Amino acid sequence: MPPHTDDLHARFLALDAFLLAHQHLWKPRPFTHRHLPWEAQHPELSTWLRQRSLEQAETAHNHPERLDAPQPFVEIANQSKALSEVDALPTHPLNAVSSRLSVDVPGRKWQQIEAFAKSLSFRSTPTHWLDWCAGKGHLGRRLAHGGQALTCLEYDEQLVQAGQQLSAKLGIHAMHLHQNVMAADAASRLASHQTPVALHACGDLHVRLMQLASDARCQHMAIAPCCYNRIDSHQYQPLSAEGLASRLTLSLDDLGLPLSETVTAGARVRRQRDTSMARRLAFDLLQRQLRGIDDYLPTPSLPSAWLDKPFADYCRDLAELKHLPAPTDSNWPELEAAGWQRLAQVRNLELVRNLFRRPLELWLILDRALYLQQRNYDVRIGTFCDSHITPRNLLILAELKPHNSGVLPCG
Ligand SMILES: C[S@@+](CC[C@H](N)C(=O)[O-])C[C@H]1O[C@@H](n2cnc3c(N)ncnc32)[C@H](O)[C@@H]1O
Repeated sequence: MPPHTDDLHARFLALDAFLLAHQHLWKPRPFTHRHLPWEAQHPELSTWLRQRSLEQAETAHNHPERLDAPQPFVEIANQSKALSEVDALPTHPLNAVSSRLSVDVPGRKWQQIEAFAKSLSFRSTPTHWLDWCAGKGHLGRRLAHGGQALTCLEYDEQLVQAGQQLSAKLGIHAMHLHQNVMAADAASRLASHQTPVALHACGDLHVRLMQLASDARCQHMAIAPCCYNRIDSHQYQPLSAEGLASRLTLSLDDLGLPLSETVTAGARVRRQRDTSMARRLAFDLLQRQLRGIDDYLPTPSLPSAWLDKPFADYCRDLAELKHLPAPTDSNWPELEAAGWQRLAQVRNLELVRNLFRRPLELWLILDRALYLQQRNYDVRIGTFCDSHITPRNLLILAELKPHNSGVLPCG
């Protein structure tokens, strides 16, 4: 099903029904449950997943839909795949730019910027780019290289200054403004002749852009969202009529699911991440005993130096930090091994949850797309790069409908 404007609504409803019907499979997190509620319902799948190794889980992590696991896994995987198919946006060649423009830009970030720029196409040519949460403004400079005006908004003073210096050095006329985009005065920064662009502005930040840019009747905008869980409220606040009508409620944990796809990390980083998780899972078993309560207890993130402590000290110190009774006669090697065994099980059980990662992300993207449609924009969605360049590779392109299109703006 290609993501044309007309079927944004239909696609949203199909995803909404899918996510609602299977909530029991993707809402509970294996990390916080010793047994997931669905395991009793699907014992064959549960047993199959639980006997697999950590390495096997790692291999399947980014493509769980390829796993030949017992039902209902394959059936759900097929539905997930069909529902989350998104075409790549058409691209156009870019004028080559001096390599000086990409100095100081990490390689993958530059690839994202080039891909983003190649995927922008609007009925009329933008004349003034507005780079939203611009950092140093690398994206804006790449776009404005042809001579259009450029305004960059950013609230980190150092990045504003560094951006200003880079633009001056490269001879690009740009205004780098120190602006908190969540502040009330941010609205005054937008005008209808501007084309806002946002590459990976987190949760509330890109939602704010969609609200302010549609209020200002900006002709076009392009948004690649990320970090859906970085929001001020405890629960997702839907934007579109369809989102508001949905029975789906999304907690911050739920909103983190689309972000759980990992870009390949080096062996050292992986080992550190796994050790940290295995220790937490072992501590979880211990704290259940110490408290006499078979429930998960959240623990704060810890400095990486904690991983250099002997395992017993790690547990004792964490117990103290959480004001728990001091552990006494624990069999530390056994407990540590149990943590690693749980990690393998958790990672494999998470493969079920991971089948819903892309459908949920698309649901969130469509809620945004439909919101803009309801504010009188023509909207297209698609990918702007491969997921190995960034897993947050969905782009929303919106352009204000022509005056005589007969559709009244809402809100
Ligand atoms: C993930 S970075 C993306 C930066 C840039 N668009 C890019 O792709 O490299 C998000 C940026 O938003 C900025 N930011 C965060 N909160 C902000 C706010 N309330 N107002 C303006 N900028 C903000 C951060 O300082 C950071 O530079």
